[in-house]
Amino acid sequence: MRIPPLTLASLSFTIGMFPSMLMAQAAPPSNNTSNSTATNTSSVVGEILTPKHPATPRITGPKVFGVRPGNPFLFKVTATGERPMTFSADNLPSGLSLDSSSGMITGTLQERGTNAVTLHAKNAQGETSRLFRIICGDTIALTPALGWNSWNCFAGAVDDAKVRSAADAMVSSGLIDHGWTYINIDDCWEAGRGTNGMIQSNQKFPDMKALSDSIHSKGLKFGIYSSPGPKTCAGYTASYQYEDQDAEQYGKWGVDYVKYDWCSYGKVANAIRTEKYAAMLPADDAAKLKSLADERAAIEVTPGNKRTEEQKSRLKAIDGEFKGVISKLKPEDRERIELEVVQEPYAVFRKSLDKVKRDILFSYCQYGMGKVWEWGEKLGGNSWRTTGDITDTWKSMSGIGFSQDGHEKFAGPGHWNDPDMLVVGQVGWGHPHPSRLTPDEQYTHMSLWALLSSPLLIGCDMSQLDDFTKSLLSNDEVLDVNQDPLGKPAGRISMNGTVQVWARSLEDGSKAVGLFNLGDQPASVSVSWQELGIKGPQIVRDLWRQKDLGSFAEKFEATVPSHGVVLVKIRPAGTAASK
Ligand code: GLA
Repeated sequence: MRIPPLTLASLSFTIGMFPSMLMAQAAPPSNNTSNSTATNTSSVVGEILTPKHPATPRITGPKVFGVRPGNPFLFKVTATGERPMTFSADNLPSGLSLDSSSGMITGTLQERGTNAVTLHAKNAQGETSRLFRIICGDTIALTPALGWNSWNCFAGAVDDAKVRSAADAMVSSGLIDHGWTYINIDDCWEAGRGTNGMIQSNQKFPDMKALSDSIHSKGLKFGIYSSPGPKTCAGYTASYQYEDQDAEQYGKWGVDYVKYDWCSYGKVANAIRTEKYAAMLPADDAAKLKSLADERAAIEVTPGNKRTEEQKSRLKAIDGEFKGVISKLKPEDRERIELEVVQEPYAVFRKSLDKVKRDILFSYCQYGMGKVWEWGEKLGGNSWRTTGDITDTWKSMSGIGFSQDGHEKFAGPGHWNDPDMLVVGQVGWGHPHPSRLTPDEQYTHMSLWALLSSPLLIGCDMSQLDDFTKSLLSNDEVLDVNQDPLGKPAGRISMNGTVQVWARSLEDGSKAVGLFNLGDQPASVSVSWQELGIKGPQIVRDLWRQKDLGSFAEKFEATVPSHGVVLVKIRPAGTAASK
């Protein structure tokens, strides 16, 4: 993909009071004096900001990993740097072993508890080590998933070859070395059911187990998709009333991640809803509800796009009459019933997954119904979509991303808000084209999703990765924000017209801060230490450029391009950048 030339932009930093003792340690803007404005590197649209990683080893990926007792352990230590590279670990708990050439840690842990391990990576250029916690307990997905999903690029055109090519490209592009792990098939792989109701893959996926084995052999993990209704969103066989069989089949195939949609569950939900309301109402009201529900079901046999105007208006009237009857119940009872109805399929599938001796990440895709963020964790979800489907436009991406404020308090290690998959690179839902987001918008997308601790699922054709897209996906300091073990996603800390500041605390005591400009013109965006709840001189580090910008006394200010971002990490002066 050719990157269009840049329209604007320079970043400038308005410097607060600058303690001279710290001037030496950063590479600050040249005119670093109190209240002056300095111009930093000009940012050209499409400019690659991520520096090339060094030849020396650098361990990447999550710093903490959760596993359930007795389940297969599968984790690949990832690192950038020249190959060949050898890996080793100190204090690896018994039951686990590490393959020194691939970095794969396998085995099983029986004992619950936290194991503090030191990982080492060594090549001809040098060696490095990093602390890594392995927590054996009930919680997996201690950091958000990093991976790829077929939907945003291939939609219904997905097949075995395309998925294998995505896995190959994850390795050959080097993205695997930055911690990217999952290769997830979305909808359109399903056929009907075979013996004992076991789900079959269609002819596009001749051997799911072989595909899964091949993905695992590369040190990657395998994800799949289903829906709680009788049909998936694309009309394929889904899990309704076969939840146990599906979970069992996924276990046999070696699935590590299930995305569970909502499509076609609506009718099931209507029936359950009617039963629940009827049980609380006098007999004549209950009978009325049931007859309305039967009438509705009879009309709904005709697919939505084939209904007559008369049928459509009758459906509306039925809704009105239904509401009229249930309005006799207390609002809190109605709320409770509605919540039970949207929760039910996720509780059912959780039980089915719990019967499988495998750590399978459970990802809900029900678009935020019933404020899923408030109960997703309680029901055993590892992530939940908070919105409808994303597309590769500024309106869609920014509309979704910047509406996440307030959800942050419900997410944490093991349970994440999911504002949907990434729309960078060649996307197109079966009609591939370069993302319509401008490069600055793509920096905003990646920065915001990293700040939000969103699962990061690449949605592009991995075999067509261009250098710019690769640079967006391989910035380890940005990925570290997403994977921070504290697991505290960002919320909005200020909004002034079209500029917004989002911030989060990181495990090392520093703050990650995004200065965003949603407007059509460059704008100055600033954040004060007071707003961040910190005091004293702070080193500000530009995370995309992986470069300290200097020490700042009480605030940081930058000129941010239209629809762009400046993503920084702020740590107390005198402390080193954590590795
Ligand atoms: C829904 C989901 C998408 C995708 C499709 C598949 O629209 O939100 O992410 O999984 O279904 O049909």
